[in-house]
Amino acid sequence: MIAVVAMAENRVIGDGKGLIWHIPNDLKRVKTLTMACPLIMGRKTWDSIGRPLPGRASIVMTRDRSWTADGAIAVSNLEAAIEAARSWIENTTGSRSDIILFGGGEIYSQGLKYCHRVERTVIAKKLDGGAEAAYFPELPPADWDIEIEAEVGATDDVPAYRYESALRREPPRQF
Ligand SMILES: NC(=O)c1ccc[n+]([C@@H]2O[C@H](COP(=O)([O-])OP(=O)(O)OC[C@H]3O[C@@H](n4cnc5c(N)ncnc54)[C@H](OP(=O)(O)O)[C@@H]3O)[C@@H](O)[C@H]2O)c1
Repeated sequence: MIAVVAMAENRVIGDGKGLIWHIPNDLKRVKTLTMACPLIMGRKTWDSIGRPLPGRASIVMTRDRSWTADGAIAVSNLEAAIEAARSWIENTTGSRSDIILFGGGEIYSQGLKYCHRVERTVIAKKLDGGAEAAYFPELPPADWDIEIEAEVGATDDVPAYRYESALRREPPRQF
């Protein structure tokens, strides 16, 4: 399982309702990293996107057993989400074998233990996500080997950011 995230330097990932930046090239990168994969996301992240992302499965974690949405696969816990993701991969022609931990903050903090890799975009400034801010967990250097893959300078519209790839030093927890 791979976590894909964009975060500020202080690990803020959003204000609880959506993203607080717009970086078109990062959205393209997310598309490339996730295409043909199942995405595991929280119900609040689903609400912030508002639709299934094409070419991928949207597996949505909610504690509300009656929740449904067109194009979403609803599950009631993380292990059920992983099972649904495996089943989608097995039954979908052209699928890739990566399961993507897609956020938000609650889902990253519960699912990171199963991830062997994190692909993160780090926006090179601290941002205020407000009272409902969501965060990505810390990646302690003792557990993660982090490489910077590219650095992009600021423009008028977009702050500076970098792409990092983090590999877990020991295998992740299995399920
Ligand atoms: N920058 C990024 O890369 C990125 C990526 C994704 C999201 N985000 C941002 O993150 C924010 C949302 O994050 P968030 O932490 O507030 O919410 P979230 O993680 O997206 O969703 C939380 C919801 O997931 C469900 N849930 C959580 N744990 C569960 C469990 N163990 N079993 C079943 N259901 C469970 C609950 O839904 P119910 O309330 O329905 O029970 C809970 O309210 C938004 O601002 C979004 O834009 C950013």
